[in-house]
Amino acid sequence: MSEKCIVINGGHELNGSVEVQGAKNAVLPLLAVAILTEDDVVIEDCPHISDIDNMAKMLEELGARVEREGTRIRVSGSVTRGCAETALYKSMRSSMFMLGALLSVTGEVDMPTPGGCDIGARPLDIHLDGLMRMGARTYCDGEILKCRAESLHGANIVMRYPSVGATENLLMCASLAEGETVLINCAREPEIVAIAGALKAMGARISGEGTSVMRIEGVKSLHGATLRPCGDRIVAGTVLSAAALCGGDVTVYGVGANDMRSVIQAFRSKYCRIDENGIGFRVRSEGRVQAKSAITAPFPLFPTDMQPQFLACQCFSDGISRVQETVFENRFAHASELAKLGANIAVQGNCATVVGGKLHAGVVRATDLRAGAGLCIACMKIDGESKVLNPRYIDRGYENFVGLFSSIGADIALSEL
Ligand code: EPZ
Repeated sequence: MSEKCIVINGGHELNGSVEVQGAKNAVLPLLAVAILTEDDVVIEDCPHISDIDNMAKMLEELGARVEREGTRIRVSGSVTRGCAETALYKSMRSSMFMLGALLSVTGEVDMPTPGGCDIGARPLDIHLDGLMRMGARTYCDGEILKCRAESLHGANIVMRYPSVGATENLLMCASLAEGETVLINCAREPEIVAIAGALKAMGARISGEGTSVMRIEGVKSLHGATLRPCGDRIVAGTVLSAAALCGGDVTVYGVGANDMRSVIQAFRSKYCRIDENGIGFRVRSEGRVQAKSAITAPFPLFPTDMQPQFLACQCFSDGISRVQETVFENRFAHASELAKLGANIAVQGNCATVVGGKLHAGVVRATDLRAGAGLCIACMKIDGESKVLNPRYIDRGYENFVGLFSSIGADIALSEL
């Protein structure tokens, strides 16, 4: 049976400009936010990617009406039940964002413990701890997570780790809970700011978003609105890393440089100039890589979702570098794939040591969404024809990955083995 793959003839500079899509990791929680009111909610700038399509299907399974009009998604009607034994829940981590919203609206959620990429165990303790402090009862019955809450009340919640998903779940619950909730050590990602802005547009009373302490005064109900996600800073960073590695002159629009500071700092070097222009940034690169190290951490530090792309670039550096992954416990699967292309990488625990050098064309396999993107970037640098298998992982987060990069000069196409 034939197998889909991405074919790349590398060694070309990248030149031109791109407009990045709406952030996947903002649109997904916004779809959950949309069920917090029976009024119509329109979400603009929704990329055509499989994770969003799956989430939309989940909402319909739960009784809401979901209509896609180009890049706009309209959610209307009400959610009738919180029990969704759908296989969809198993397929993606983003279903976790449904927990807070469903519990708020139906008071009763049974859902399969969510699946997701193979980058780590993805426990839910921080989500459940916060929900219990707000009055929910939760327990796992084998593969099914059961949550009940006749009503939710405000609480002071110290999060042991600034979990993005847990922050978003608790934010949704707190918006309709009785009284004030204070989230301490909450996530500060731009996607959190986007979700809080959306909830406020619907009538929620929130302050402190983007900082480590958010205060939410619960309201009786939320009304409909038109919501807009932030630009996808990881897609923008992926284009930035490809231009830095391959050389050329690329301008990226649609994401503020403020959301990209740690990424810009990581890729800026004596061979790569990055200028900010208010609505994006411009990369001019000689196509050489300076050996630099990086440690992933919650925003505003270097994002874990850019680690595979950074590691791929460092394989071609002029020295030795170390990449430490502190967010997920199993996010170096792409290292062994890069080694098939001749990369010199040694992984020990949560740290990869890379000796930069020349790589050769080959066939590699995407193991998760961002690993796939990193492998494609490496192949764009390498002379000759390479193939990246499992492109479906890349489709989860990039709308038309092949079109995006061929528009700036990459020789890249979808094919079958
Ligand atoms: C979101 O996942 C993103 N996904 C991820 O992007 C991103 O890598 C991650 O945040 C970190 O920035 C979406 O927004 C859909 P976390 P999330 O809860 O919310 C541990 C991509 O490629 N943890 O911040 O699941 C967890 O195991 C994806 O777009 C607990 O221990 O991430 C992980 O080690 C990949 N207990 C760390 O915290 C909990 O209850 C960060 O997880 C929750 C999380």
